[in-house]
Amino acid sequence: ATESQGEWFIGSIDQGTTSSRFIIFDSEAEPVASHQIEFDNHYPESGWHEHDPMDLVGSVEECIEKAMEQFISKGYSKSQIKAIGLTNQRETIVVWDKYTGEPLCNAVVWPDTRTSNIVRELKARPHSDKLLDMCGLPLSTYPSSVKLLWLIRNNEAVGQAYAEGRLAFGTVDTWLIYQLNGKEKNIHVTDSTNASRTMFMNLRTLKYDDELLDFFGIDPRKVALPKIVPSSCSEAYGTLGRGALAGVRIAGCLGDQSSALVGQCGFSAGQAKNTYGTGCFLLYNVGTKPVISQYGLLATIAYDFGPGTEPVYALEGSIAVAGSGVKFLMNNLGFERDSTRVTALAESVKDNGGVYFVTAFSGLFAPYWIDDAKGTLFGLTQHTNRGHIARATLEATCFQTRAILDAMAKDSGHSLESLAVDGGMSNSDLTMQTQADLTNIMVERPAMRETTALGAAIAAGLAIDDGGWNSLDEISSMMRKKKGRCTFEPQMDKKTVARMYTCWERAVEMSRGWVT
Ligand code: G3P
Repeated sequence: ATESQGEWFIGSIDQGTTSSRFIIFDSEAEPVASHQIEFDNHYPESGWHEHDPMDLVGSVEECIEKAMEQFISKGYSKSQIKAIGLTNQRETIVVWDKYTGEPLCNAVVWPDTRTSNIVRELKARPHSDKLLDMCGLPLSTYPSSVKLLWLIRNNEAVGQAYAEGRLAFGTVDTWLIYQLNGKEKNIHVTDSTNASRTMFMNLRTLKYDDELLDFFGIDPRKVALPKIVPSSCSEAYGTLGRGALAGVRIAGCLGDQSSALVGQCGFSAGQAKNTYGTGCFLLYNVGTKPVISQYGLLATIAYDFGPGTEPVYALEGSIAVAGSGVKFLMNNLGFERDSTRVTALAESVKDNGGVYFVTAFSGLFAPYWIDDAKGTLFGLTQHTNRGHIARATLEATCFQTRAILDAMAKDSGHSLESLAVDGGMSNSDLTMQTQADLTNIMVERPAMRETTALGAAIAAGLAIDDGGWNSLDEISSMMRKKKGRCTFEPQMDKKTVARMYTCWERAVEMSRGWVT
């Protein structure tokens, strides 16, 4: 313990769609202590997806306590943790009363599709086609804006708070920072990566845009919007107000997909990563000027490290269902209770047996943006068994990744040479081999796959003077030296790939327009 007193550490809160974690990284970016808690997802009606906002806070606080117990038991002390980074599921919104700090209803989670009628209405408005260029996102059920509008119109408590000017709005980063500081401090901030998912922020100015707010009919005098600040910043985010890390500064904050890009050291234009979490999100660094997609991708802030640096932009391909497809097999269809056994089931068959599963539980996101698509299984015969369905579920994410990479090649004018991957499903060798086969590029998987949490730790570690890292170059060169990277080379013959992809595209077309 005495020997280790000179070492410094950074803690990272990773608040995702199905679980929260806290991981403590050492100066070599290796995790030394961690804890993870799954919390309840609520689906009160078809298409609705909610979280209890207090579960998000409670699970994060419990993870911090448990990880700290491990950390202390290894002989380290609280004073060695120099800062905390925070990364979070994006687009999900929480609304609360700005005077009491009490949530007014459950959080509306990013894949929720209750807003589809509002989206249809907004698409028919004049100038709706201008939004993409201003904020980088197309109109769909996915961003925060339509979720807020739905709550103001349909939830009595929210509508009333809005009318009375008591409404406070935030994405999950904002809510957690507000609560973890202690609501009496009234810290109401967001970082630009999270703000870029609301449709309220102008992509070029990194400020709220009156034209955008106007389009959605949101009056900023009636709803408190969080102040937008850089992702790496030692002042704006405050300090933890209670618990084992009370007094420790939050110095980094990034939406989880931006964070994974940073954790993979995707700091140069042309680098990309694909994270297979609840959903799957491919971010491609395009440098310091945004690229507005012509082919169904999003433009987003990759990261914004504050004074002296320029914000970096990404093209993003968002897939709504990845790990949640595997969970669907386990929870809704009574498949195995453990995701590794679902993968084993997929490995038990030699191919998909002609089965294609368009996992469009929230419509289809990038690059298709088909709001009325529904999850649909194609190609069932008496030969089909659970192995084929498991395999088709894993393949669905790989096919959508292929469609996204094709769109990215058209938008950017060149194809990727390799794809860095992380997230739960990337642990499946079968899935990663399928990904390499279907995209015809090399897939690279790092040994340390907690890249999402690491990204926020990096943002925090760059912001502080006592401990922490000094530059992106220092971090990149440290990460390049890491061993245990695993690569998957394309192996499948091109004819088979082409045949499978044609079947997938037909299945996508046939999943449209299901009205029940
Ligand atoms: O945009 C939604 C995304 O941030 C959620 O990430 O890791 O929960 O799939 P994840």
